[in-house]
Amino acid sequence: MTHQADAGAEKELSWASYALDGREHDHYFRSERYFASFPPGAFVADVGCGEGWALQALLDRGCRGVGTEVDDRCLEEARIAARPVVKAGAEAMPLDTNSVDGIIFAGVLPFTDEDAAFAELARILRPGGKVEAYYLGIGFAVRDMVLGVNLRKRYYGLRSLINTVLMQTVRRRLPGRYGDTVYISHRRLGRLYARYGFVLRRHTPSPTFFGMPVFIYHSLERKGVDRTAPAR
Ligand SMILES: C[S@@+](CC[C@H](N)C(=O)[O-])C[C@H]1O[C@@H](n2cnc3c(N)ncnc32)[C@H](O)[C@@H]1O
Repeated sequence: MTHQADAGAEKELSWASYALDGREHDHYFRSERYFASFPPGAFVADVGCGEGWALQALLDRGCRGVGTEVDDRCLEEARIAARPVVKAGAEAMPLDTNSVDGIIFAGVLPFTDEDAAFAELARILRPGGKVEAYYLGIGFAVRDMVLGVNLRKRYYGLRSLINTVLMQTVRRRLPGRYGDTVYISHRRLGRLYARYGFVLRRHTPSPTFFGMPVFIYHSLERKGVDRTAPAR
């Protein structure tokens, strides 16, 4: 997947102007704010790291980290830049239970098996650990369908919308590669958080497209007692 790559290759609108409301929006994940969840020394997994730009930003801030990714081209680029990455899907990562202090989960959920991915995030994150996540909201798909720069982009938006509706209603997607992308709703996210033991700590408002969220920015914490924290 590659809306980032598409964005570059097709001179797509920038992230910042994606809402098409005439205003420039900061893309939360390009801002300094979300790195604050991960203090120097924290061990952070960047799940679905792409080429690892966020992983690099964390390393530069004194965190330790690892990126996981399924795409060979991304992995190669990350390795050329000497970033520590492993090939693994979000649904099964070669990381020990409770072994990470934090997780970045940026734009990856639409391409995963949602339940398997959240179960795995909950497994590797220690209790009290933080997650900074962004998801693609329904506004992203509708925008692609209505204003995509070419037919391929519009078809992608339509296909994603069909998958999203199928997922909401019968918990299925289109077969094979047609089922590639599913958008998330606040309601479905709420269910995933409850099922896998996450608490929503912060919801940062994002751009909307005709009132529909283009992104959903969430800061989470894993429930449970942090045995590594000093007793108060
Ligand atoms: C929108 S990109 C986001 C990349 C990166 N997190 C960022 O913020 O730039 C989504 C990434 O998820 C990766 N991906 C797709 N399916 C995945 C899966 N099942 N597990 C982990 N990563 C996956 C893609 O290869 C792609 O690099």
